[in-house]
Amino acid sequence: MIYEFEIRKIIDLDACEHSVDLLAPGGAWINLTTPKILVTGGAGFIGSHLAEKLVTTGWKVSVVDDLSTGKIENLQGQIGSGKVQFVKGDIRDGKSMTKLVKGFDAVAHMAAIASVSFSIKNPVLANDVNVNGTLNLLKACSDAGVRRFVFASSCAVYGEPHYLPIDEEHSTMPISPYAVSKLAAEHYCQVFHKVYGLETVVLRLFNVYGSRQSSAGEGGVVARFAECLRSESPLTIYGNGSQTRDFVHVNDVVKAFILALKKPGIGDCVFNIGSGIPTDVRTLAELMLGLAGSSSGMINETPRVGDIMHSFANVEKAKRMLGYTPETPLQEGLKSLIKKNAKAISDNSAAT
Ligand SMILES: NC(=O)c1ccc[n+]([C@@H]2O[C@H](COP(=O)([O-])OP(=O)(O)OC[C@H]3O[C@@H](n4cnc5c(N)ncnc54)[C@H](O)[C@@H]3O)[C@@H](O)[C@H]2O)c1
Repeated sequence: MIYEFEIRKIIDLDACEHSVDLLAPGGAWINLTTPKILVTGGAGFIGSHLAEKLVTTGWKVSVVDDLSTGKIENLQGQIGSGKVQFVKGDIRDGKSMTKLVKGFDAVAHMAAIASVSFSIKNPVLANDVNVNGTLNLLKACSDAGVRRFVFASSCAVYGEPHYLPIDEEHSTMPISPYAVSKLAAEHYCQVFHKVYGLETVVLRLFNVYGSRQSSAGEGGVVARFAECLRSESPLTIYGNGSQTRDFVHVNDVVKAFILALKKPGIGDCVFNIGSGIPTDVRTLAELMLGLAGSSSGMINETPRVGDIMHSFANVEKAKRMLGYTPETPLQEGLKSLIKKNAKAISDNSAAT
């Protein structure tokens, strides 16, 4: 049942040591020996990569996820080895979130209905998860004295751009329930900083790609194309493929999150996180077909209603204030994704 909250401690959270006594007001995160972080939506695509990286950089990591789109397998190695504590739960349950966030130094908030098309079919549910869920977490974090809250927002808040590249000063004009919900949640982040002093950092992610991304829905064009390559079917392009996007590798996004968690003096800032480079969808398809050595080809379908023609990020603010540098060239990121997918297919067929 969708509204039923289940809190299943795979590892007992109460038995864990907390490091809140290491917090000093105004001090940098870097001074903490083992900061504790809760990653919401950590069984999803981006969240699972973040959880994994945080473990290797010395954070004590817990994940809360309702597994609606996320998969426990995304964290299997981490949970199995006891490196990540997993709690199955719903961020819409304010009471449980209040209990859960106690003792954490930071929260990275990824949990969301992340699909634009799903939000168009289910606007009330999208609002409930993306706005009310975020509000529950902000209130819980503020009450519990959590130091910093980093929120995964989206370039969707800008709507149809008036100029390119899009910087953070660009006007916001959401054109989907998903985008409205992300913008509303951003405003709550800013209000919780101003009114309650919670450090909130908003990262507006552009088109993230990498392993574990779902190809369901409009999920991500890279994941959709990768699925077509796997099934040896033609790559479907909506429109003539001249629309541009800013494809940013998940490893770069993870780096941005870690910088946003650690950097002092940015509690109340908004940053674009992209590659800063536009790529048209036809070029993307040709690149992926070439790298995979595939002859699947492409087909063109009618453009989708509401699709933006051109979008790419100005990431100068993130470079200047966070020290963020997108490091994975598209060709390299796609090559590694295609290699991983090919290996997974050959491992699967060897096992059957
Ligand atoms: N992937 C992108 O290109 C992209 C771009 C912009 C913004 N974002 C944002 O980044 C975040 C992560 O996106 P993703 O691509 O990894 O999506 P994802 O669907 O893989 O991850 C979202 C996770 O949240 C969980 N979740 C959903 N509702 C929940 C609830 N009520 N309670 C607890 N957990 C819940 C899901 O099970 C899933 O594991 C989202 O907030 C998304 O809006 C993603």
